[in-house]
Amino acid sequence: MLMKNNITIAPSLLACDFLHLEDEVKSAVAAGADIFHADVMDGVYVPNISFGFDIIKSIASVSDIPVDAHLMIKKPYDYIDVLAKAGVWSVTVHSDFDTPEVVRATLEKIKAAGMKAGLSLRPRFSADTLIPYADICDLFLIMTVEPGFGGQKFMADMLPKIAETRKIADSADHPITVQVDGGIGEATIKSCADAGADNFVIGTAFFKAPDRAEAVKTFRERAAE
Ligand code: DX5
Ligand code: ZN
Repeated sequence: MLMKNNITIAPSLLACDFLHLEDEVKSAVAAGADIFHADVMDGVYVPNISFGFDIIKSIASVSDIPVDAHLMIKKPYDYIDVLAKAGVWSVTVHSDFDTPEVVRATLEKIKAAGMKAGLSLRPRFSADTLIPYADICDLFLIMTVEPGFGGQKFMADMLPKIAETRKIADSADHPITVQVDGGIGEATIKSCADAGADNFVIGTAFFKAPDRAEAVKTFRERAAE
């Protein structure tokens, strides 16, 4: 039988009620979330704008669980220090926001600032793209939708890439989390866990669930099946 990795659930705040941000953060912690996933979009790297670093700082100040920042922006290098100061635990950038040299320098800056470094792939990039960065990454994020919006349909054709990414992660000399993001919920979490993902970003299916604690329990059960 396949050994499942330690499952962690990361609600994506993009789907929360922004009028009641503090309550939403506390409700997610009370429901059993492990990590907060905060999506930063600049309207350039992706065709949408979400929220900025002051909001993340506010979230981190009321959160008892780590905050994971997913940067869908063109110039992440410039904001690493501000994220570290805000108390962010991990920062993920995309493989194609700039040249490989700038991508590596940004990952190095994240590590030097004392945070976990993540690298994400848009659907069109193959798992091989991650190999040159495995030495420095703590997390690989496989997008299972085109980044930019919550509430999209899960792309099942990303599953083989998740499995390849797990292999790359496991051949590194340090632990690397395999995170999935986009369209994850009750119906899709098991296939991602079977493919080797261990951290699950869940926006709509978490925040719109009638009972969030029950939803987290179900996600964990499905992932572990
Ligand atoms: C999309 C974001 C996701 C998004 C996921 O670009 O990276 O984190 O919030 O939302 P759902 O779970 O609704 O697909
Ligand atoms: Zn995200």
